[in-house]
Amino acid sequence: MDLAERIDKGRIPRHVALIMDGNGRWAKQRGKERVFGHENGVEAVRQTVKAAAEIGIPYLTFFAFSTENWCRPPREVSTLMELLVNAIREETPELNENGVRLMAIGNLDELPKACRKQLQEAMDLTAGNSKLTVCVALSYSSRWEIAHTARLLAEKVSNNEINPEDIDQEFFAKHLQTSHLPEPDLLIRTSGELRVSNFLLWQIAYSELYFTPVFWPDFRRKHFFQAIIDFQRRERRFGKVGEQLP
Ligand code: IPE
Ligand code: IPE
Ligand code: MG
Repeated sequence: MDLAERIDKGRIPRHVALIMDGNGRWAKQRGKERVFGHENGVEAVRQTVKAAAEIGIPYLTFFAFSTENWCRPPREVSTLMELLVNAIREETPELNENGVRLMAIGNLDELPKACRKQLQEAMDLTAGNSKLTVCVALSYSSRWEIAHTARLLAEKVSNNEINPEDIDQEFFAKHLQTSHLPEPDLLIRTSGELRVSNFLLWQIAYSELYFTPVFWPDFRRKHFFQAIIDFQRRERRFGKVGEQLP
């Protein structure tokens, strides 16, 4: 039986976030350089987007490059940036045809100019699409995002635009970069690492976490669907007791 048939279409997660990890180890296993793993990770992104569209997931967020990743060897960083520009250039027409909207979060000002330009063009082109929103986290770290938001709100207070009493959880969340996205229902991390690595810390307060040993370049439709099926078996209580749930 195809895995898709085991998915409950009435309980599809609205937002799935993915930490794409294990490219370097995947390449090393094959006696290749780390960047070979990054190159082969593009196909996994393509397949994941297709699989999400197939079952009607409306939001996906991919952790593609962290603030901390800038500290990697310069050659790896520059190859990753080039790969990113090429992937966006090559994939955008098809994404657009399929009703996918592309968005980005992170400190985008730090990206090389060519990368920012390609990204902006893709975001502008797909801005009217609404079937599936694909958000890419680039030069992103959650602590950076939260500190950035705190500063933004402090500036608003000092300019008398808002009062300190206006700031509550909901207000704060509306000023995060993810304000246009629902909170992730499910967070998937590949490569067997059991950590969150500074990704969406505020937003995953009640997300279900799913870890798989599969390295990102090997991640396919069936792995994605396995994660969704696992997610659907869980009871999300949000602090309540099981009997109180609908
Ligand atoms: C994930 O794979 C890609 C990025 C973080 C950019 P890694 O490059 O972290 O691969 P491993 O974890 O070293 O195997
Ligand atoms: C997390 O992976 C960042 C991305 C997937 C972009 P890392 O490989 O950078 O995380 P650590 O260093 O193992 O925690
Ligand atoms: Mg890694």
